[in-house]
Amino acid sequence: MSDTEFDRKPNNDARNIAPILPCYDDLAASCAYGWSMLERGVKDRKSAFHTPSVATITTAGHPTIRTVVLRGCDTNAKTLRFHTDTRSGKIAELTENPNAAMHFYDAGAKIQLRLAVKLETLSGDAYDTAWAATRPMSRECYQVTQSPGSSIDEPYQVAFDADATRDGEDHFVPVAAHVYQMEWLYLAARGHRRALFDFAADTQNWLVP
Ligand SMILES: Cc1cc2nc3c(=O)[nH]c(=O)nc-3n(C[C@H](O)[C@H](O)[C@H](O)COP(=O)(O)O)c2cc1C
Repeated sequence: MSDTEFDRKPNNDARNIAPILPCYDDLAASCAYGWSMLERGVKDRKSAFHTPSVATITTAGHPTIRTVVLRGCDTNAKTLRFHTDTRSGKIAELTENPNAAMHFYDAGAKIQLRLAVKLETLSGDAYDTAWAATRPMSRECYQVTQSPGSSIDEPYQVAFDADATRDGEDHFVPVAAHVYQMEWLYLAARGHRRALFDFAADTQNWLVP
């Protein structure tokens, strides 16, 4: 028998009831709280939402998943942003199939978000703004001359060249994740709360946890 927060049955004993968020029984407020956590995830490096997982489908048709750093959140536009290398697997994957999923879990808050997203590489002003905001340490990642994920005989064969890669800009690409669904799961001793927010259909519903 496992004993995770999720396995616990509702407990109405007042002595066991932890402080609960005001959005607990409020659909719209739960959605707003989810977006506020995403906004905080961009700014707060210690937030669990700073490093979500992004799942795509490989060009061979299999699901795959990886961690990224959350770099942007536009709540009104329902869009998130992360940065990557143009030569990475995820770029080939999103070019073939832009449908993807993002996963966030904050163990302290006991809140999980599952997002259905469409990925899009950014260009123009959005590209320039994202590149201008990158720190020297982040730029170094994009200065590697070989493609990320390519085989090498030993680990010291990785070569960086700032000049040949224009400081890394040649391989840098910001990716927008347009969120069309958010599934909210809030674990609580008095009863879990699960909800689905569909931004494309403009609907919101409670779900059985
Ligand atoms: C904490 C953490 C943060 C990461 N952030 C990024 C990121 O922002 N962008 C990125 O491309 N890869 C990031 N990575 C590496 C990816 O998880 C992955 O290994 C790499 O991008 C190759 O993925 P792909 O071959 O599926 O494209 C991060 C890994 C960790 C553990």
